[in-house]
Amino acid sequence: MEEGYYKTKESVEEYVKLSEGFNGALLIEKFKKVLNINSNVLEIGSGPGTDWNILSKYYNVTGSDNSPEFINHLTSKNPNGNFLELDASTLSINGKFDGIYSNKVLHHLNDNELANSIKRQYEILNTNGVICHSFWLGEGSEVFKGLFVNYHTVSNLQEVFSKQFDIISIEKYKEFENDDSLLLIGKKKAN
Ligand SMILES: C[S@@+](CC[C@H](N)C(=O)[O-])C[C@H]1O[C@@H](n2cnc3c(N)ncnc32)[C@H](O)[C@@H]1O
Repeated sequence: MEEGYYKTKESVEEYVKLSEGFNGALLIEKFKKVLNINSNVLEIGSGPGTDWNILSKYYNVTGSDNSPEFINHLTSKNPNGNFLELDASTLSINGKFDGIYSNKVLHHLNDNELANSIKRQYEILNTNGVICHSFWLGEGSEVFKGLFVNYHTVSNLQEVFSKQFDIISIEKYKEFENDDSLLLIGKKKAN
């Protein structure tokens, strides 16, 4: 998968500027309804760290990204933060978390990578662990600015997550245009 856009210092600086004014505050409010304050949270694809900063007000957050440039950015902006270079599809980490959060990250995975990510999320979550992930609503996939983008529908997300997770909600919301996005909240199934 071509991931160049998020991998160079120049594009990371450009993305940080372009994303100013956007954050996942409303998504995190929904996450707070299912996850106790002070829980251990893994954020996948922390990028500029905007959501990491909001999450950190309530949770003990480990930020992560598969781009070393974003990890450098995150570490220099937040010297006391905990950040890991992690790929969403493999999540090669031994720790256990109470919650896993991502905002517009998992759409960069193809169907097989997403299935593997969901399996790994199940494995690294504690009993009753919860997930909160946003996606772009749509069908099919495309390459945008050199980045692979996989669109999802409500029924498709239900299908791919429901083996390992009880779906609490999948809601449409507006990022740029009405109903262009989906927010999935789920709970790890009991063994
Ligand atoms: C839209 S940004 C996320 C913004 C972030 N939620 C925030 O609060 O600013 C997407 C991020 O996902 C990361 N990313 C893309 N593919 C990834 C993958 N396979 N594993 C981990 N991170 C990935 C990119 O490097 C980028 O930092």
